[in-house]
Amino acid sequence: MTGTGKGIVVVGLQWGDEGKGKVTDLVGSQADYVVRYNGGDNAGHTVILDGETYALHSLPSGILNSRVTSVIGNGAVVDPQELTGELRTLRERGVHLGRLVISPLAHVTAPFHRLLDGVRETALRNGRIGTTGRGIGPTYVDKARRNGIRVQDLLDGPRLRVKVEANLRLTNRVLEQVYSQSSVDTEGMVDALLRCGEELRPFVDDAARLLNRALDDSATVLFEGGQATMLDVDHGTYPFVSSSNATAGGACTGSGVGPTRITRVIGVAKAYVTRVGSGPFPTEMTGKPGADGEKGDWLRHHGHELGVTTGRPRRTGWFDAVVSRYAAMVNGCSDMALTKLDVLTGLPSIPVCVAYDVRTREGWKRTRDLPVNSEEFASAKPVYDELPGWSEPIDGIANFAKLPVAARTYVENVEKLSDCAVSLIGTGAERESIIKRHMV
Ligand code: IMP
Repeated sequence: MTGTGKGIVVVGLQWGDEGKGKVTDLVGSQADYVVRYNGGDNAGHTVILDGETYALHSLPSGILNSRVTSVIGNGAVVDPQELTGELRTLRERGVHLGRLVISPLAHVTAPFHRLLDGVRETALRNGRIGTTGRGIGPTYVDKARRNGIRVQDLLDGPRLRVKVEANLRLTNRVLEQVYSQSSVDTEGMVDALLRCGEELRPFVDDAARLLNRALDDSATVLFEGGQATMLDVDHGTYPFVSSSNATAGGACTGSGVGPTRITRVIGVAKAYVTRVGSGPFPTEMTGKPGADGEKGDWLRHHGHELGVTTGRPRRTGWFDAVVSRYAAMVNGCSDMALTKLDVLTGLPSIPVCVAYDVRTREGWKRTRDLPVNSEEFASAKPVYDELPGWSEPIDGIANFAKLPVAARTYVENVEKLSDCAVSLIGTGAERESIIKRHMV
């Protein structure tokens, strides 16, 4: 191992949709490589470039920068039809695309994975996870069960047919006998996958070797986490999680780059919290009638909180410092980006959750640490500190000293409570609307 390359991870500290796209775009302007290391087209990055909005699902956001090489690592999953479709759409919009490299080890989401995702959710009824329906869970199930299909299989017709047939022998029995669905036919699917394979062939290359060589040559590699810490299959609110390792450790296993090469981990948190799908969310303000529901609606409306992938309205709640401190810990964050601070403008005061009251076997207890017991976590009632609000618009402010005192106090409280320095602050949707503080 040689060279002084930089490995920078950008990871969400909440339940996703923290505005990572903007941070990756900013940090990515110094990067030579941008890597997706987990998840698939369940992710949605919105990037605004020259007034144009781009919603990316499968592609790393670095693809919009022609001097960057975008990499889909082995830990990510690829829906070939979605990926080829996204590439075509960007080309049609006249975007000059950068270089793309796809790991041959990445697993493939086939149409039957989506089907399984949907029927499983329906069968779970009230216990459903609220997945994006993109087949992510079933693809990772096949990976762990060792009958998955990988990107390299898309490049070899006879081999792909054997793999799909072997997989469908099991999958069709599950579809028919467990979910009372019709079985899936191999033929049309194999042909469609092979056509995508031909389109993707020029991009398939040994991504781990490429990235390690680049780091040897002093390149900057940015690892962009899909989803977020609280949706990580190990460290999140299991089972209401996605099926991959979104946390910073996943950047290593999901790309073939060792931990000693990671030089910075930037955690991204929104100035409040949102979540899509089911599962516990202690600071949520529900849509029920009454003051809380109205404040939740207010945040959703002012923050334009609709899912990029699903279009679903996001659940909304106040900033949760129990979650952000926990997330900064499990990711080993060097610093933090706080996004969408401008959305909070106009509130007379702003609650911040500093602890939970949780029901344990011994009775109710107050804690500042995130409970590892999922039932305790589900019982958590937030304990709030009330911080002063501000009414002056802060949109587009790029200098910390120019923020109203109350907004500065808010940021300083977030960093103290999260035990992590806030180095970047988002003050609006535009690319330039960002405050760069002490860069770590
Ligand atoms: P899946 O990843 O589609 O299996 O969905 C599992 C959970 O993760 C659901 O609650 C989804 O709403 C959530 N999820 C998946 N991807 C994202 C994302 O990019 N942002 C926010 N939530 C997500």
